[in-house]
Amino acid sequence: MIERKLISKRCGKINPLSIDEYIALNGYENLKKALHMERTEIIEEVQKAYLRGRGGAGFPTAIKMMGLAKEVSKDKYIICNADEGEPGNFKDRYLLENDPHQVIEGMIIVAYATGGTHGIVYVRGEYQKSISLLKWTIDEARKKGFLGQSILGKDFHFDIEVRSGAGSYVCGEEFALIESIEGHPGRTRVKPPFPTHQGLFGKPTLINNVETFSTIPTIIDITGKEFAKIGTPSSTGTKLLSLSGNIKNKGVYEVPYGVTIRDVIFGLGGGVEDQRKIKMVQLGGACGPIIPEYMLDMMIDFERFEEFESKTGAGAIIVIDERFDVFTILLKTIRFFQHESCGKCTPCREGHIQLGNLIEKFIERKATMQDIASLESLARVIHQASLCGLGQTSPTAIIASLRYFRDDYIDRVEHPFKV
Ligand SMILES: Cc1cc2nc3c(=O)[nH]c(=O)nc-3n(C[C@H](O)[C@H](O)[C@H](O)COP(=O)(O)O)c2cc1C
Ligand code: SF4
Repeated sequence: MIERKLISKRCGKINPLSIDEYIALNGYENLKKALHMERTEIIEEVQKAYLRGRGGAGFPTAIKMMGLAKEVSKDKYIICNADEGEPGNFKDRYLLENDPHQVIEGMIIVAYATGGTHGIVYVRGEYQKSISLLKWTIDEARKKGFLGQSILGKDFHFDIEVRSGAGSYVCGEEFALIESIEGHPGRTRVKPPFPTHQGLFGKPTLINNVETFSTIPTIIDITGKEFAKIGTPSSTGTKLLSLSGNIKNKGVYEVPYGVTIRDVIFGLGGGVEDQRKIKMVQLGGACGPIIPEYMLDMMIDFERFEEFESKTGAGAIIVIDERFDVFTILLKTIRFFQHESCGKCTPCREGHIQLGNLIEKFIERKATMQDIASLESLARVIHQASLCGLGQTSPTAIIASLRYFRDDYIDRVEHPFKV
């Protein structure tokens, strides 16, 4: 059995509008348990679990929690990043719309452990259903005494509000998100200082992904040590994957780290529609690499993805069959980033336009061998010189295609042997 439902165990089994159904399936029990633990003990459990952020970058969650806990401030923000703008990702929406109390419970536990005073869920503007459901969920949690003043009789006060973005992809980046909540255009800031030191309104701020917060109650429940036994030694626990593209059973699946991409595509996704061959698979989302069919035995874990100078991303797997060519996919990807670039730094603002123009030459079969070299060097410049993660990761698909689909490039060159 490839699936392991740890975080999505209640999805589809409870009415997301009903706090009583959540409570009946162990809901808010882990908050009660955490409130009887020392604050440092909670962070230690997360550290033992070796939980890494599920929003893309894979940063160790316990380190962020320690960073926020040591800050001395009257106000400390806990922000849940539910922007989910990465093409091909829909797993946060799945969690928000099927088990919204779990993410709220995770946020409350983290707030208690770190001294958080205000919570914000920043939701992608297009997710209107998630937004109304979250508002309802927060009200219900408040009525039961899980949010507000003196939570469950403790000297602990914490509340959560919902904010929504206006459809900008870069607002998922932590500092752009902070700027957006502050009412400014969504553009990143130069780091350091990091958000845990100086974040929203200049106050210490912890930002984690929906899936990361949703994992916290499970860690408290089964202990960090047991959690760390799931997955691989360095990529612990499970991952929710958004499986889409030319695949029979599209959807969200939860698997332990360490399963192969082939297992997911064929074991869970049922393989490709109409028995067509796989041309390529894009991993992580638009910011991830594209790989050929012969690499599908690759394991899903943080290390394997780092080999692509990339991150596991938020867990998208987009299957593209033989009817499509590499350049059509690359052009769509790059034009997306061109559109979403905030314009703050030159490599990203100008570079995507030029990358798109170069790829168009391959589509029109007007490219030269020199264009392959230009594409490679421009992709590397954008990757290395951009200010934020958008430009640092947007050329990943091009860099991977130059490695794994080089013959496709040569095929498109007008006169490959003419210098
Ligand atoms: C352009 C860009 C978009 C991002 N979008 C999201 C997003 O939609 N959701 C998310 O959780 N993280 C997103 N991130 C990552 C966040 O900056 C941040 O690392 C993450 O929310 C931290 O949570 P985690 O440690 O739980 O993964 C994005 C990063 C970049 C550079
Ligand atoms: S990399 Fe792109 S999105 Fe990020 S700051 Fe530079 S221009 Fe803006």
